[in-house]
Amino acid sequence: MKLLVTGGAGFIGSAFIRLLLAEDSAVQIVNLDALTYAGNLENLESVSADSRYKLAHVDLRNAEAVSQTVEEAAPDAIVHFAAESHVDRSILSPKPVIDTNFVGTFHLLEAAKKAGVKRFVHVSTDEVYGSIDEPNEADESAPLRASSPYSASKAGSDMLALSYWTTYKMPVLVTRASNNYGPYQFPEKLIPLMIANALEDKPLPVYGDGMQIRDWLYVDDHCRAIRAVLERGKAGEIYNVGGSKDLPNIDVVHKILAATGKTESLIRYVQDRPGHDRRYAITSEKLMTETGWAPQMEFEQGLAETIRWYQENSAWVERVRSGAYRQYYESNYAERMAADSD
Ligand code: NAD
Ligand code: DAU
Repeated sequence: MKLLVTGGAGFIGSAFIRLLLAEDSAVQIVNLDALTYAGNLENLESVSADSRYKLAHVDLRNAEAVSQTVEEAAPDAIVHFAAESHVDRSILSPKPVIDTNFVGTFHLLEAAKKAGVKRFVHVSTDEVYGSIDEPNEADESAPLRASSPYSASKAGSDMLALSYWTTYKMPVLVTRASNNYGPYQFPEKLIPLMIANALEDKPLPVYGDGMQIRDWLYVDDHCRAIRAVLERGKAGEIYNVGGSKDLPNIDVVHKILAATGKTESLIRYVQDRPGHDRRYAITSEKLMTETGWAPQMEFEQGLAETIRWYQENSAWVERVRSGAYRQYYESNYAERMAADSD
C-alpha cells in the first residue's frame, strides 16, 4: 500500500510510521510535514534510511504544495495527523491553529479528492465532545461541545472531512482518541512535562485543583487503532479510541513522583487553564466490536516505560526544550506560577 502520512515527524505520527514500517513489509510511506517546533526528524532516525520511507517537507497551509505532493505521491490512502496539537498554545495564539487544523485540512481534502484517494483517515480527538459529567461516556453520536480554539478547530475539521464523504463520496473516516502518552512526546503536555521537570528537580505546575480527569492511551495502542480503522473501518464513520484508564491529573503527578523517587514538594498548584474541561470520557465500544481492537498497555507499565525513555534520552529533551520552547514556556507559566492558586 502507498500511504501519505501527514505530521509524521510529531509524537503520534512518528510512532505510527515506525510501527507500520516494522510490521508491513509492503508499505511505502510519504511523510508530509512542515517540521514545526513539534516536528522532529530525530523521532524518525531509525527509519530515515529505509527505502520505503520518504519525507516531503511541505506546509499544509500552502494549498498548491499540498496538491502537488499528493499528486506526486499518488497514495492509496492518507492518514492525517498533522495539526497544532496543544491546547495551551491554542489559547495563547489561536491563528496558526485555525490555519493548520481547519484550513490545512481543507487543502488536504481538496488534494485528496482531486487525486481520487481511496481512503482518508482524519485523526481527531475526544476533546470535541467537551466536558462529560460523571458517570456518562460520550459515544460517536454525542454532541460536539468544543471549549478551546484547539478543540473547536478539530471539531470543525471533523465536520469538514465528513462532508467530503456525504457530498463527494470520498471515503473519509474519523478517529477521536483520548490523551496519548509514551516516548517522543513533546514536553509541553502533562505527562512528559511532569517527567522532564521531576527528573531535573523543577516545579511541577498543576492547573487549578488538579482534579480534572483525563483518559490515558498508550501511543502504540492508538497507532494500532488507526491501523485497524484504516484497514477495517467503514467509510463515513467516526471511531472513538480510549485507553480505559481515567485518572485525575494530580494522581498522574503523584505516580510520576513516586516512580522517579522525587519529593512531593515539587508540586505547585498554579492558575487554571481558561475554559478548562473538567472531565473527558469516551466509550470505544464501536471500534472494539467492529475491528477487534483493544488497548494492550497497562497504564503503570506504560508510564514506567515512558519514564525510562525520558531518563535515557535527556539529550533529546534538552534539544527540544531549547530555542523557541523557552519563549512559550515563559509566556505560559510565568503568570500562572505568580498567581499560585494555593
Ligand atoms: P504533535 O504536535 O506532536 O505533532 C504534530 C505534527 O504536525 C508535527 O510533526 C508538525 O511538524 C506537523 N505540523 C504542524 N503544523 C503543520 C502544517 N501546517 N503543515 C504540515 N505539518 C504540520 O502532535 P501529536 O500529539 O502527535 O498529535 C497528532 C494528531 O493526533 C493531531 O491531529 C492531534 O489533534 C491528534 N490527537 C492527539 C492526541 C494527543 O494526546 N497527543 C490525542 C488525540 C488526538
Ligand atoms: O484529549 C485528547 C487531547 O489530549 C489531544 O487532542 C491534544 O492534542 C493533547 O494535547 C491533549 O490535550 P490536553 O489539554 O488534555 O493535554 P495536556 O497534556 O495539555 O493537559 C492534560 C491535563 O493536564 C489537562 O487537564 C491540563 C493539565 N495540565 C497540563 C499541563 C501542560 C496541568 O495541570 N499542568 C500542565 O503544565
